[in-house]
Amino acid sequence: MPGSLRDASLNRQLLELAAEQMKGEAELVIFDEIEDLPLFNAELETDPPDPSVARWVQALQEADAVLIASPEYNGSITAALKNALDWASRPNDDAPLDGHLVAVMGASPSSRGAAGGQQVTREVAERIGAEVLDAELLVGRAPKVIEDGDLVDHELQGQLEALVGALLKATAKRLGTDGPS
Ligand SMILES: Cc1cc2nc3c(=O)[nH]c(=O)nc-3n(C[C@H](O)[C@H](O)[C@H](O)COP(=O)(O)O)c2cc1C
Repeated sequence: MPGSLRDASLNRQLLELAAEQMKGEAELVIFDEIEDLPLFNAELETDPPDPSVARWVQALQEADAVLIASPEYNGSITAALKNALDWASRPNDDAPLDGHLVAVMGASPSSRGAAGGQQVTREVAERIGAEVLDAELLVGRAPKVIEDGDLVDHELQGQLEALVGALLKATAKRLGTDGPS
């Protein structure tokens, strides 16, 4: 899921690179509707006013794992991502994100690679009950290292491969499809 709404989002491009990296081992479905999700309102929780909420819940229920790529906005996560996570946290006793495996990555123009935003994403997802992978990917100087949808920095490319590999491995372990140990 991208935390940015921009068509040209660098974080969205990062997700597309992760999808390529899966090389047919898994399918990465990008949930493109976070901008359609209404602002969370507890009074509307049982009967959400927009079908995008049901589609978001269904996407999470069908996913074996969730990969979040988000920019950092003012030291935190984007409002759109927080809103999507709030919907994913309800109802409290059956939250769609609860128990899910989550991996986090992010891109920003600064050298910190959206580190602060990733930390907040991690904390919110864990609060909801997700298991968040320790591995993460911080893509700093993103407009320079993501060129026409390619990651041109070899070290970062290796880190992306490592993150995707760790996510696939952890997912296979949960599904019991990782073969004999
Ligand atoms: C409202 C706003 C706040 C931002 N705050 C931060 C920030 O705290 N740290 C940072 O590294 N970049 C910050 N940025 C820059 C974004 O990281 C940059 O625009 C990034 O490319 C957005 O991600 P995207 O390309 O996926 O849309 C901010 C941008 C906006 C619009």
